[in-house]
Order: sequence, then structure tokens, then C-alpha cells
Amino acid sequence: MFLAIKLLLKVEVILNRIFCKVLKQFYNRFLTYFTGKTNLNFNMALIEPVKPEFADTLQKKRYSPGLRLWHWLSAIIISGSLLTVLANSTITAGHRNASIIQKSFAEKNLTVSQDQAREAAHEISDNVWALHTYFGYILITLFIFRLILEFSHRADQKLLRKLKFAYTQLNGVHSKQAKHDIVVKSLYLTFYTLLGIMAITGLCMAFEDDVPALKIHALREIHSFCMYLILAFIIVHLAGVFLAERKNNKGIVSDMINGGKAD
Ligand code: HEM
Ligand code: HEM
Repeated sequence: MFLAIKLLLKVEVILNRIFCKVLKQFYNRFLTYFTGKTNLNFNMALIEPVKPEFADTLQKKRYSPGLRLWHWLSAIIISGSLLTVLANSTITAGHRNASIIQKSFAEKNLTVSQDQAREAAHEISDNVWALHTYFGYILITLFIFRLILEFSHRADQKLLRKLKFAYTQLNGVHSKQAKHDIVVKSLYLTFYTLLGIMAITGLCMAFEDDVPALKIHALREIHSFCMYLILAFIIVHLAGVFLAERKNNKGIVSDMINGGKAD
């Protein structure tokens, strides 16, 4: 018995070592590829294969590969999500399609009750909501990815550090730039907060049939209201990027594609 426990403990130690090694390797790879940073505190043998000149190029990027990946994937998924909402309030709207279904059956001398037509129409809009919910799960995954990035980014790439830095520059010679940075970064922070609210309220709605306690009407209202705030952010953001590109930040969009150079 004692021998068996000793053997089990040995196996546990070996498994623990392997697990830690794999985790370290994964963490180092994650840092190198997505944040352009290598963790020198970890086993040096693991990071040596990275070419120094390659690592140097990554170090100088303005936007990390992870942030760029997050940005463009999120832009696509949020646009898809908004399209599903647009579809369900126009072409696949339940009330609209119910009358179309009834009319179409009547033309073929078939009668369908209003309830039957409504049920068929709701089936279509439910499918669109299901697609919306799938987009929602992808968005939540991307949101978690963005949170992890914030913790593992280089100090000068962290959104919160940039905001803090701008505050420290408010009374300096670059106070105008600092004010601009505070407005822009605060807007991004507000957007991330909104995304968090969308994720929580959306998840509650997705599981309200399984967990009756989550069936709260206010959550639906909050979810829909936040959509307008997100729409407002997108409009202001696109206008801001357009102006920056035309004025003092030329190449900002291509920087968001290829990384750009850090200041
Ligand atoms: C649904 C659409 C979009 C959303 C939700 C969105 C969201 C965001 C967010 C949250 C950031 C800040 C990233 C960070 O530093 O943490 C950002 C940055 C940026 N986005 Fe977008 N974006 C969208 C579409 C676009 C489009 C279409 C373009 C280009 C035409 C664009 C260009 C940029 C650029 C250049 C930056 C960097 C700006 C800076 O450094 O302050 N975005 N975007
Ligand atoms: C930018 C992101 C999002 C936007 C703009 C958005 C927008 C909306 C809107 C306007 C509605 C209709 C609410 C109502 O019935 O009054 C809705 C419903 C819903 N959303 Fe989102 N949403 C987003 C993200 C999410 C996320 C992350 C989830 C999480 C899974 C989610 C899950 C749901 C669910 C389950 C419904 C209810 C569908 C139904 O009635 O069957 N949404 N969304």
C-alpha cells in the first residue's frame, strides 16, 4: 500500500513536470506570436530558437499580432451580429413574414390560420437569433482573448498603461496630444465595458430557458440599449480613424493591418 502511494506520488511529480513544461512552452509561444514579447524569466532554452533579429522586429510593432487579429475578427463578428439584428427587424421579422405566408397560401387556395402562419414566421426569426447567439459565443471568446492580451502585452501596448501615461502628460508640453489620447483611450475602455455587458446579458438570455432565474426582462432591455451605444461607438470610431488618417496619423489603418512601428 505504502509503495503504491509512493509510486503514485512519483507519477504525479513527473506529470506535473511535463504539464508545467507544456504550459511554459505554450505561454512563451503565446507571448511571442500574439504580443511580440518573450518571457525571459522562463526557461531560456525554450526561447533561444527564436531568431534575435525576428524578435527585435516583433518588439518594435505598434500593434501586436494578437491585437490585430482580435480587432479584425471582432469587427467581422460584430458586423455579422448587427446584420442578424437588422434582418430580424426587417426581412425576417415575425409579424411581417406571417402575413406573407398567409397571403402566399391564400393565392394557392389553401387556408392557414393566423397562429400557424405566425408560428412558421417565428421559426425563421428564431433561426436568425440562433445565428446571432453563435456569433455571440465567438465574440465572448474573442473578448476573453482580448483580456488575456491586456495582461500579457508589452507595457507600452497595454491600453490601461497608455491611458495612465496620457494622464501623467496632461500638464506637460504634449498636453494637447495627452488630452486627445485620454478621449480616444477612454472611448475604447467604454467600448470594452459595453462588450462585457453585451456578453453577460446575452449569456443570460441564451440560458434563460434552462435557468428560469435568468429570465429578467430588464436584461433584454439593457442588451438592446447597449447595441445603440455600440453603433454610436463604431460611427465615432470610423470617423476618428478617417480623420486621423487624413491629418496627423497617416498610415494608421495599415498599421492596424501590418503592425506598424512603435514610437
Ligand atoms: C465593428 C467595427 C469595429 C470595431 C468594434 C472596432 C473597435 C476597435 C477598438 C476597440 C480599438 C482599440 C484597440 C485597442 O487599442 O485596444 C480599435 C482600434 C483601431 N481600429 Fe477599429 N474597430 C472597428 C472597425 C474598424 C475599421 C473598419 C477600421 C479601418 C478602417 C478600424 C481601424 C482601427 C485603427 C486604425 C485602430 C487603432 C487606433 C488607435 O491606435 O487609436 N477599425 N478599433
Ligand atoms: C455587439 C454585439 C451584440 C449586439 C449588437 C446584440 C444585439 C442584440 C439585440 C438588439 C437583440 C434583440 C433584443 C430584444 O429582443 O429586444 C439581441 C438578442 C439576443 N442576443 Fe445579442 N447582441 C450582441 C451580442 C450578443 C452576445 C455576446 C450574446 C451571447 C451569447 C448575445 C445573445 C443574444 C440572445 C440569446 C438574444 C435573444 C434572442 C431571442 O430573442 O431569441 N448577443 N441581441
